[in-house]
Amino acid sequence: MSVTVLVGSQWGDEGKGKIVDILSDRFDVVARYQGGANAGHTIQIKENQFILHLIPSGILRDGVSCVIGNGVVIDPKALLDEIELLKNFGIKIENRLFISHNAHLIMPYHKLLDSLGEKRSDKIGTTGRGIGPCYIDKYARKGIKIVDLLNKSELEKKIRKNLEEKNNLLKKVYEHEELDVDAIVAEYLAFDEAIDPYITDVPSYLDNAIANGKKILMEGAQGALLDVDFGTYPYVTSSNPTSGGAATGTGIPPTKITAVFGIVKAYTTRVGNGPFPTELTGEDGEKLRAEGGEFGATTGRPRRCGWFDAELIRYSRMINGIQRAAITKLDVLGNMDEIKVCVAYELNGKRLKSFPTDIARLNQITPIYETLPGWKKDISNVRSYDELPSEAKNYLDFITEQSGFEICIISVGPKRSQTIEL
Ligand code: IMP
Repeated sequence: MSVTVLVGSQWGDEGKGKIVDILSDRFDVVARYQGGANAGHTIQIKENQFILHLIPSGILRDGVSCVIGNGVVIDPKALLDEIELLKNFGIKIENRLFISHNAHLIMPYHKLLDSLGEKRSDKIGTTGRGIGPCYIDKYARKGIKIVDLLNKSELEKKIRKNLEEKNNLLKKVYEHEELDVDAIVAEYLAFDEAIDPYITDVPSYLDNAIANGKKILMEGAQGALLDVDFGTYPYVTSSNPTSGGAATGTGIPPTKITAVFGIVKAYTTRVGNGPFPTELTGEDGEKLRAEGGEFGATTGRPRRCGWFDAELIRYSRMINGIQRAAITKLDVLGNMDEIKVCVAYELNGKRLKSFPTDIARLNQITPIYETLPGWKKDISNVRSYDELPSEAKNYLDFITEQSGFEICIISVGPKRSQTIEL
């Protein structure tokens, strides 16, 4: 039995798309378990760059099946655009893409309420993709699931009932015009026809795959520190990117999960608002952003950049159960004279014993750094560990020792070939 959960270890954008693409060669099924089109996984294959928001990047490997689990919230338009994009590149989707009939649908009012909500005070800095409002409806038991598309009259009733409430909110709270029920019903029924061939009873599909000895990779979107339960709440997304989400987001029981693999960026980034203890706001931050091309794959927003935070990574390792990891974007540090690593947090002159997730404390802590020499070399053409400059090996040793997991992949550029396996 082989079921590996792959998680983003920081605030997302660790380079999961590329690593899933590399690893999916060794798996039969790749299953996405949470989030929605707020994610953006960038994969570069030869001259082509693909940004996938919903469909797991395993779809780019022949022979790999891809699953979108019940924990994912699906924007019909984003999904259809992605299917179209892949088909235009000659990638076969039929009998390779399986979508849970229990996944919830992002409705036009979710996107609207997301962006209108962000215009008010206490901005989270969301991607505006309707993620939060869709999960709100899911947990308020008012959501529309894929399975609801099967019954036209019931669907219409549900949408009408929801819109009564949402239109009230739009009009009275946001002073926005009301949405048209008929147009929404028509749009979602057309979507049902387009995705019909892909709808699947995912728990049974995965159970069967495991029984037949298939290897499964569970792909998380975003990152552990954006987890609604374990992240820097309220500056988080509205789902569980941590490894536990893999079970509830697909129907794979925890007893069947055999490994947890972390994707760890060689420094730290974050998009949107919220605490970021090792953030670099000056020239070094600009340098990292420019060298690393740190702009959001979904929204194009500049990512906030900072030093590697071992305190945060130890917390992430603990809540995810990370055993082995891929270090990504190591090449981006190649122009730094010195590289800092945060090894601990201090609050009121005392070292903290654990990572504080309450933002009041997190906003007050002082990061304690160790400074390591940079390697001042372009390593993007290095293909073996031995060829790495000694300072880069030293940096890897230091972060491994601080983090407490084994590194087995080092990524030195966006291409498949720019990968060192240990
Ligand atoms: P939402 O997921 O659109 O509600 O956004 C909530 C927070 O999560 C914001 O800070 C976003 O910038 C962040 N976020 C959502 N998706 C991603 C992602 O794929 N990478 C990095 N940050 C993300």
